[in-house]
Parts: sequence; C-alpha cells; structure tokens
Amino acid sequence: MLKKVLIAILIVGVGMQFIPVPKNQSDELPETDFFQSVGAPVDIRNMIRASCYDCHSKNTDYPWYGRVRPLAWFLQKHIDEGKEELNFSTFQEYSDRMKREKIRSMISQIRDGEMPLKEYLWMHPEAYLNEQEKKQLTEFLTQINNDGND
Ligand code: HEC
Repeated sequence: MLKKVLIAILIVGVGMQFIPVPKNQSDELPETDFFQSVGAPVDIRNMIRASCYDCHSKNTDYPWYGRVRPLAWFLQKHIDEGKEELNFSTFQEYSDRMKREKIRSMISQIRDGEMPLKEYLWMHPEAYLNEQEKKQLTEFLTQINNDGND
C-alpha cells in the first residue's frame, strides 16, 4: 500500500515538471526601464536590482529550485502580482502622475520594511536592506520625486 502511494506521489511529482511555466526573463535592458531615464548612482542601482527586480521587472534571477513545480507556480504568482503593482522594466510607460505615485509608494514600502517581502528574504539574504541602505534608497527616491515636481 505504502509503496503504491509513494509511486503515485513520484509519478505526480515528475509529471508536474512537464507543465510549462512561463519564464520571466529577457536579456536586454528595455528602453522603458526605470534606470534608462533615472540617472542613479551604481550602488542605488545595485540595491534596487538585488532587492526588487526579481518580482518587479521582466527579469527574474531564478534560484535553482525556482523551476521546480509546484514551487515554480508559487514564485510565478509573486512575480505576476508584483509586476502588476510595479514594473521597473516598463516604468517609463507610466504617466508622470503615476510615476510619482509609484515612487511615493516605494518609499513607504521600503521605509516600513514591507518590501522586499519577508518570505523572499529567507531565501535571498542579499536582498536584505539594512537601516543605512533603506535611508540611502528612500532619500534618493524622495529626491528624484521632488525633481520631477518642478
Ligand atoms: C518576492 C517578490 C517581491 C520582492 C522581492 C519585492 N516585491 Fe514589492 N510587491 C510584491 C508583491 C507580490 C506585491 C503586491 C502585493 C502586496 O502588496 O503585497 C508588491 C507590491 C509592491 C508595491 C505596491 C504596494 C502598494 O500597495 O502600493 C510597491 C511600491 C513595491 N512592491 C515595491 C517594492 C520595492 C521597492 C522592492 C525592493 C526594495 C520590492 N517591492 C521587492 C512582491 C515583491
């Protein structure tokens, strides 16, 4: 009995790997990317890329387990939801008003420690932002938002 159950689990587990999951990856930096028009110092770029781009852009740096179903579906859901709220790859397509709103929202999410998502940080310690980094990012974002206002 147990053997049959184990074999069934194995078959389902292997079978799942053949169900396609779209891959959220592209090689080039899109024309509409946030950093194409926002001149940001390299450390700011690196922080945002490391902490936000996996879920909020066209480019996810998948972990080795990221293609393993059913986990891949779970990741895909995060990416889809994250991109819907904020997409750095198509940032330039937002209206000016929307850009300012998104930046304001980024500032509060970072300041309050809501983003990057906690469950993501368990597996991605490199995405963690310490107080100093949070301050650096929120100051930068506040500054570009003020520049856009005048
Ligand atoms: C693990 C995936 C993931 C990472 C990494 C991540 N986000 Fe998010 N983000 C989401 C998801 C999912 C949502 C939508 C659901 C929610 O608000 O929880 C979201 C929503 C948002 C929103 C909209 C929130 C609102 O309600 O206005 C902003 C702004 C945001 N993220 C900014 C960031 C920033 C900035 C970073 C990097 C410091 C980041 N996120 C990193 C997944 C992620």
